[in-house]
This record gives sequence, C-alpha cells and structure tokens, in this order.
Amino acid sequence: MNDKNNKINIWIDCDPGIDDAVALAMTAASRDALHLLGVSTVAGNQTSDRVTGNALKLTAFFGMDDVPVVRGARGPLVRPVEPAEDIHGADGLGNCALPETGKNVTSESGIFYMYTRMMALPDGERVTLVPTGPLTNIALLLRTFPEVKKKIARIVLMGGSSSGGNVTPAAEFNIWADPEAAQMVFAAGLPIVMCGLDVTLKSGLYGSQIETLCRSSRRAERACGQMLRFYLDATRHEGEEDMVAIHDAVTILYLTNPELFGGRNVTVNVDCDWGAERGRTICTDESNRQSVYLLDQVNLPEFQRILLAKLKSL
Ligand code: RIB
Ligand code: CA
Repeated sequence: MNDKNNKINIWIDCDPGIDDAVALAMTAASRDALHLLGVSTVAGNQTSDRVTGNALKLTAFFGMDDVPVVRGARGPLVRPVEPAEDIHGADGLGNCALPETGKNVTSESGIFYMYTRMMALPDGERVTLVPTGPLTNIALLLRTFPEVKKKIARIVLMGGSSSGGNVTPAAEFNIWADPEAAQMVFAAGLPIVMCGLDVTLKSGLYGSQIETLCRSSRRAERACGQMLRFYLDATRHEGEEDMVAIHDAVTILYLTNPELFGGRNVTVNVDCDWGAERGRTICTDESNRQSVYLLDQVNLPEFQRILLAKLKSL
C-alpha cells in the first residue's frame, strides 16, 4: 500500500467544492504521511470546467504545484450534471477569489492517465483511491481497465449514508449525482471505507472557529475560513445549527488519524430507480458479503484540533 518511504500512496478524485478544497489542504499538510500521486476532477458541485480550474488553483495555492491534475468525466453516466451552486457558490469555492495559476491540466483524458499512472507503480506498491465527489471516474476506471484493481489497496470515499440524505431525504449528494456509478464501485469487490453522512455531519468546525480562521494573517487559514463561512451559511439546515460539516476532509483525516473514528462493517447497494429514493445507499449488516467499513463515530474535539493544526502548518 505504501511507497518506498512508507508513505500512503493516494489519488484524490474530486469536485472542488469547498470541502474538497479543505481535503486538499489537509493533504498538503500531511505530506509526511501521504504521497499524493495525482488529482482527477469530476463534474459534481460544479461543471467540469469550474472544478478543474479550481483543482489547478487549489493545488498551486496549497504548495502542490508538482502534483498532476487531470480532467475526468464531464458529467454523470446517465443524467446531466446538476451543480450545487447554492451550496458551493457560482465559482464552486464560495466565491473566494484564489490567486490565478499558470498551471495546466496534465491530461484531458484523466481516466486513462489514472490507469497508466497506477499501473506504473513499482511492484509491491499500491494506491488508495480517495473519491470526494460523484463516483463517475472511479466506475469508468474500474470497468474500462479492471486489471488496475491489483494496484488499488482500498477506496476511502466520501459519500452515502445509512440514515437519510442531504440533497434529498433519501440520498447524499455524491451518490445521488451518479447512482449507477456508485453501484458499480460498491460492487467492484475492493475494500471500501465509507465516510458518509453518519460521520461527516458530526465532523466540522463551529462558526467561532471559522471566524478565527478568517482573521488569520496566514493566507491558507484565511482562504479556508472564507470558504467555510460561505459553506456554513449555505448548509445550516444539514446538521448542527452552528457547525459546518467538512464532509470531504474526513477521508484525509481518516488516513492520517484513523484513531479519531469508529464504524461498522456493512454491505451497500444503491437505489438506481427513478423515484424519490434514487441515490439512497442501502446499508445492511450481512455478515457474508461485508466489504464496506462505514464510519459513524468521530472524536470531534480531536478532529477539530488536528484539522486546525494542519491548516496552521500551511
Ligand atoms: O454530500 C457532501 C458531498 O457532496 C461533498 O463531497 C461535497 O463536496 C459535495 O460534493
Ligand atoms: Ca466533494
């Protein structure tokens, strides 16, 4: 699973997106433990153009200029993309004006790039996939190049819920945006850690902590504070009144500090019908086919302490 320096090889597939941005910041602050092989973008929170531009700006802004950014699927497998403009703003980052960057995508054929980069890993090394958006790219990667599975240690994804949704009463956004892709990933036979709403709605920062970030003299803290201030105002309905759930950051903090979390083993199927339940993740405790570890507990004070310390280190 790890690279030659015993760091965890990871690949982030994202739709930045404010909490995707914080997940990238966490990754930049964890390069002692994580080796980020690359970033692929998927349409979700915003269009492919916007999330790709945001991924380029974010990796440059957080000091990861060397990390390749590649463009993945321009939309879900079946339905058109429906950006969450009300949640992440017109630019996808809470209208927080990050510096422009001269960085360009390494490939416009992101899924093929992911395949070749993962197959090129030295013998004995594997990669942990970290999807924080709709699972379109991961489904296409595994279905088009099934031989890549031998190079994938596990998938640590943000998505789903065993207890109701956020974009509809039944479904969490990433799964709802592309249920067919999600079903393909959950059925692929790879070990999955599911960072769903059961844990992410309990994993965030309070308004007072966000305001402190906004007053920081350190640009990474200030930018994340401004993005999270927008996110808090847009998502107060989702969880606790004065706490913003930083959904995607849970994937990274699970990798660096797994002791913060608890969960249970389940089997997951996705409702791909066209009714009100579309995108629901049906989680059952079937003992014979468990391949998903569903997180549902977090040590919130420690989560906040570590997240804030990582932001301060940038
Ligand atoms: O439901 C939360 C998820 O949907 C997060 O990944 C957020 O970025 C949005 O994509
Ligand atoms: Ca996301």
